[in-house]
Amino acid sequence: EATVTEQAIPKVPTLPDAQTVTHVKHWTDRLFSFRCTRPASLRFRSGEFVMIGLMGDTGRPLLRAYSIASPSWDEELEFYSIKVQDGPLTSRLQHLAVGDEIILRPKPVGTLVHDALLPGKRIWFFATGTGFAPFASLLRDPQTYEDYDEVIITHTCREVGELAYGAELIDGIRKDELLNELIGADNLSKLRYYPTTTREESPRMGRITDRMRSGEVFTDLGVEPISPENDRAMVCGNLAFNLEIKELLEGYGLREGANSDPKEYVVEKAFVD
Ligand code: A2P
Repeated sequence: EATVTEQAIPKVPTLPDAQTVTHVKHWTDRLFSFRCTRPASLRFRSGEFVMIGLMGDTGRPLLRAYSIASPSWDEELEFYSIKVQDGPLTSRLQHLAVGDEIILRPKPVGTLVHDALLPGKRIWFFATGTGFAPFASLLRDPQTYEDYDEVIITHTCREVGELAYGAELIDGIRKDELLNELIGADNLSKLRYYPTTTREESPRMGRITDRMRSGEVFTDLGVEPISPENDRAMVCGNLAFNLEIKELLEGYGLREGANSDPKEYVVEKAFVD
């Protein structure tokens, strides 16, 4: 009697541009981050984004622009995402598990890069919500501390829990031996972190824009108000926030730059599904 031997099916990627998920962490019911393998050929500048996604029901890839949250030296890629229950992509992406595949088009682009800014003394990173992602990359890039005397990251979220990803990342940077050498310890640190919340009690309440207008940000941090001589800025948040910050920065005399035309500030919209 003949027996049929089951043949091992080799594991081959089933998606075009497939990468494999290596870590998933849920921060709140609205936020999660994940890591995946990095294509060997992918080079990018800290702050850039790529198109990532899943295969859609129609057999066509469903892709969205996501900032790479990991630094360019990291052997894996990291992404920080919102979960929208009826969002075409994030309603599915939030269920990613280790070993799953995602589609990643290896063509990084974006304006939140050091090349788009003229040299300066101090750099401000202004983020709301998941707009923290490109700064998670830039804050882990040694060039950020080599180029500037002072690095200030502000993060405004509705609730305290939404600050956790950023707060943990900053903590990790302060404990990292190599980065620590560039940044300096404690009150000599080049890196300043300024979180605020708008809908839950925390040590610093209110929108960053309001705290800039009132001057509180500058007195709290003990720095001069923003000037085109000293200060550079990168902005990433929701649309209304981006527009408001732009107006403020223009008011201080800063001009919007681009890759091909570096100036004093750059802006990019945070991803919303
Ligand atoms: P607020 O709670 O006052 O709307 P979201 O989760 O909706 O993207 O918002 C993230 C954070 O950005 C919230 O704390 C929100 O504050 C804040 N925000 C929204 N619009 C603006 C704006 N025009 N200027 C400054 N902060 C803003």
